[in-house]
Amino acid sequence: MQNLSFTQNPPAISSKTGLKRNTTSIPMKQSLKLSSSSLLNEKFKVSQTHCKASLEVQEPSHRGTEIEVHGLSQKVVGVLGGGQLGRMLCEAASLLAIKVIILDPMENCPASAICHHHMIGSYDDSATVEEFAKRCGVLTVEIEHVDAETLERLEKHGVDCQPKASTIRIIQDKYLQKVHFSRHAIPLPKFMEVDDLEGAKRAGDLFGYPLMIKSKRLAYDGRGNAVAKSEEDLSLAVNALGGFDRGLYIEKWAPFVKELSVIVARGRDNTVENICHIVKSPANVSWKIMKLATDVAYKAVSSLEGAGIFAVELFLTADGEVLLNEVAPRPHNSGHHTIESCFTSQYEQHLRAVVGLPLGDTSMKTPAAIMYNILGEDEARFPKSPLCLYSF
Ligand SMILES: Nc1ncnc2c1ncn2[C@@H]1O[C@H](COP(=O)(O)OP(=O)(O)OP(=O)(O)O)[C@@H](O)[C@H]1O
Ligand SMILES: [Mg+2]
Repeated sequence: MQNLSFTQNPPAISSKTGLKRNTTSIPMKQSLKLSSSSLLNEKFKVSQTHCKASLEVQEPSHRGTEIEVHGLSQKVVGVLGGGQLGRMLCEAASLLAIKVIILDPMENCPASAICHHHMIGSYDDSATVEEFAKRCGVLTVEIEHVDAETLERLEKHGVDCQPKASTIRIIQDKYLQKVHFSRHAIPLPKFMEVDDLEGAKRAGDLFGYPLMIKSKRLAYDGRGNAVAKSEEDLSLAVNALGGFDRGLYIEKWAPFVKELSVIVARGRDNTVENICHIVKSPANVSWKIMKLATDVAYKAVSSLEGAGIFAVELFLTADGEVLLNEVAPRPHNSGHHTIESCFTSQYEQHLRAVVGLPLGDTSMKTPAAIMYNILGEDEARFPKSPLCLYSF
């Protein structure tokens, strides 16, 4: 088991201000006591109750009345992973007054500074995840590379995981994901498991070149993919991915003209909304294609269990076919712009879905939105106009 430590946000007032709980200097409490019925005072009452809850202060209220402060949901949301997506979940949660606690091994992970609590530990360690789950009303993820077996066990003991552990298990193995979706008749590029070079050559004979070779697990940002342009390239591509022992499979090259992503939100009551269609590049698509993309995305998501956001990555081919690339059962990089462009961002929607609130209005509040990945780009190419930068 990993060493655990638990940090709290906001930091306990005693440590931040140098005041101790039992000292006589109580400037904060005095200011609360002095304020009476103004709007300002209402704010202070909230602050006091919040401090009290965080610090477990047992002193009687100076106002003579107890005020309970409720967020939209009393469920504490536990998030496995505290990366940038976790951070944006925390931002959305703070507006809803929902408490989010995170489990992440990095003390200074992006979400750490703004979550309600940060438990420092690995989301891939069984005992750590079990310990974390005890503190959560509902458990969710911002990354799918977590310990699915532990989640399955926890679910059997009544822990509420959203999306379900079965979904995480399927999604975290890209090959299993492809097998699952093909069983549900979702259109996909052809694919095949390969264990050795002979198998890879057979895939090449069957699918033609170029071939897309992919790692089954722990792949993200394209890092688990390698392209073989011809049979001669195969061993190089396989070696670049760490060899067959890593667990590889091959996909037929999808001759796409555009990549689309549809972000689907499903509530606990199975209501489904699609938050937005994002045409990544280069331009818009017809209503007919949008409808087709949404249909494929809905069908894919309905084959998976649990509530939350599901980002569905799709390929549009020249002849108007829509093929599924993969599904992420969580908020997705392609939906960052929903913070500015939609009435309900993918982050708020994910929280609403997992705690069981009604899903929010997903319509766009701006006529259009565009998001561009500037990783590795030359800064000088960008105009000095207002930009929203989603970087952590
Ligand atoms: N079968 C395919 N044919 C052609 N291009 C493909 C194929 N599969 C993937 N790609 C290209 O590679 C990119 C990354 O692939 P994939 O989504 O499988 O990787 P990833 O590691 O999950 O990346 P990300 O984290 O960006 O989603 C796709 O967005 C697409 O441009
Ligand atoms: Mg992808």
